Amino acid sequence: MTDFAATKAKFYLPHGMIYLDGNSLGPMPKGANARVNSMITDEWGQMLITGWNKAGWMGMPTGLGDRIGRLIGAEPGSVVVGDTLSIKVYQAVASALELRPDRKVVLSDSGNFPSDLYMADGLLRSLGPDYELRVVDPKVIAEHISDEVAVLLLTEVDYRTGRMHDMKTLTELAHSNGTVTVWDLAHSAGAIPVHLAECNADFAVGCTYKYLNGGPGAPAFIYVAPRLAEKVRPALSGWLGHEAPFAFDLDYRPGTGIERMRVGTPPVIQMAALASALDIWDTVDMTDVRSRSIELTELFIKRVEATCPDLELASPRDPNERGSQISFRFKEGYAAMQALIARGVIGDFRAPDIMRFGFTPLFIDTADVEQAVEIMSKIMKDKLWDNPEYKIRQRVT
Ligand SMILES: Cc1ncc(COP(=O)(O)O)c(C=O)c1O
Repeated sequence: MTDFAATKAKFYLPHGMIYLDGNSLGPMPKGANARVNSMITDEWGQMLITGWNKAGWMGMPTGLGDRIGRLIGAEPGSVVVGDTLSIKVYQAVASALELRPDRKVVLSDSGNFPSDLYMADGLLRSLGPDYELRVVDPKVIAEHISDEVAVLLLTEVDYRTGRMHDMKTLTELAHSNGTVTVWDLAHSAGAIPVHLAECNADFAVGCTYKYLNGGPGAPAFIYVAPRLAEKVRPALSGWLGHEAPFAFDLDYRPGTGIERMRVGTPPVIQMAALASALDIWDTVDMTDVRSRSIELTELFIKRVEATCPDLELASPRDPNERGSQISFRFKEGYAAMQALIARGVIGDFRAPDIMRFGFTPLFIDTADVEQAVEIMSKIMKDKLWDNPEYKIRQRVT
């Protein structure tokens, strides 16, 4: 059984703050300071370039990948860390497309995160005018999977509403049509149990700065099913994905398995912060996280609906159909969120009218939820959001 009191004690949470935004940027593990400091002073400072061998920096992308792999149901040796999620989306879609050279359509949905659509669109434009990015309503995605579609690119949990796709069913349907799947797990990894191997997924990508608590700018990860890993051509063929980077050959030869999805020099300082977060995740069972998450989100919905009649639930009511965030619609949602933040309850806002709250059992408990709703109901009842200061849009919402 996961000890949630113990995991909560391992995060630095500023006094008086209820942090319901771990779905956007996770809080700092208390161990991160020492780990990053030691990386900088003992490794970079003392070892300088010898750190690549002595401190094992070069092996970190796959070492961390395996620890993330346990949380997303991936086979050992099938996940590697590096770059940013947008880059990993490009890399996965490009490699997936090459597995179906006879097809020209990438299918996605309008609930996908815009960067995924932008990256796919950018790639398809480079490939030529025959290629098409087809974007449909998430509710009808299954109906659009056909033998015309090369790649199905979906984010499992919708970043706005938390609505969750059925990975197993859609992957099966895709495969029965000869379509390759790319799953974006940005809002799944560390939020819900994911079973990549069991679902027979082909490619998956995700970030580590949200639920996984790797810190701002933490590197992304990519999964390639072992049955494909020796077959795929990495379109971003950087030297660290080469079979023998230090042979400095002029010709590219892809590395073994998942190693070929590496691109360039990994962000070692940032990986040290991620390692400290994974020290906590190593003690956690995703089934326990899921049941605690459902308990917290159910409580939140019940209390908000009882006390804030102006807010409309935007997330699926059935917990089996959503991830670990709850969104409410309110036309003055931006101002209401600013009023909450001013009172120590941190969520975020997604245009045009979504107030978004992440539930992260590693450090949020029922007392936090109750207190957050108490503050929220006062803001709504007394219209405390109706203050010009709260209506000034900041750069990051
Ligand atoms: C689903 C999804 N995909 C892609 C991205 C973009 O990630 P990055 O900025 O790390 O490239 C995000 C960022 O929040 C996201 O939520």
